[in-house]
Amino acid sequence: MTAQVGIIMGSKSDLPVMKEAAEFLNELEIPFEITVVSAHRTAERMVNYAESAAKKGLKVIIAGAGGAAHLPGMVASLTPLPVIGVPIHSSNSIDGWDSILSILQMPNGIPVATVALNGAKNAGILAASIIGSGDKSVLDKMTAFKAELKNKVLNSIDDVEGLNFPFNVSKK
Ligand code: RP5
Repeated sequence: MTAQVGIIMGSKSDLPVMKEAAEFLNELEIPFEITVVSAHRTAERMVNYAESAAKKGLKVIIAGAGGAAHLPGMVASLTPLPVIGVPIHSSNSIDGWDSILSILQMPNGIPVATVALNGAKNAGILAASIIGSGDKSVLDKMTAFKAELKNKVLNSIDDVEGLNFPFNVSKK
């Protein structure tokens, strides 16, 4: 089985967040690989990873990092593949904004699709959508996933509207 999505993170300390991307891909049965690649501490490994990613069959890269979060942008500069960036509120991050802005504010020509702070699940979902745009079986799973989300919300309406307050007139 060839990995279609590469999940990388700057440190093992990012794993509690980044594993949510892996969990979603696993749920949809999309083969992925997951590893640690630090832009600052293993620069050559980062270059090798980014330059070999397309050749080995990856279709999308999800890269998470915190603080001075250069990994997603640097990887994006070295690969023709789409890169999804996950800003992480790490121990060295001031308040999360440093991670967000480091990943979001890319120069013209080198975009990184940036999800919310610690939004690794959304990164997994976005990666699955990208794969699904060229793979009918994954597209069908994404359609089912979105229908399930919609149903969850629709099924919650009665609970909220039915809250037992004398002045709640939603249902009356
Ligand atoms: C970043 O620094 C990593 O991606 C991580 O979010 C943060 C802290 O790394 P550790 O000091 O926990 O290894 O490069």
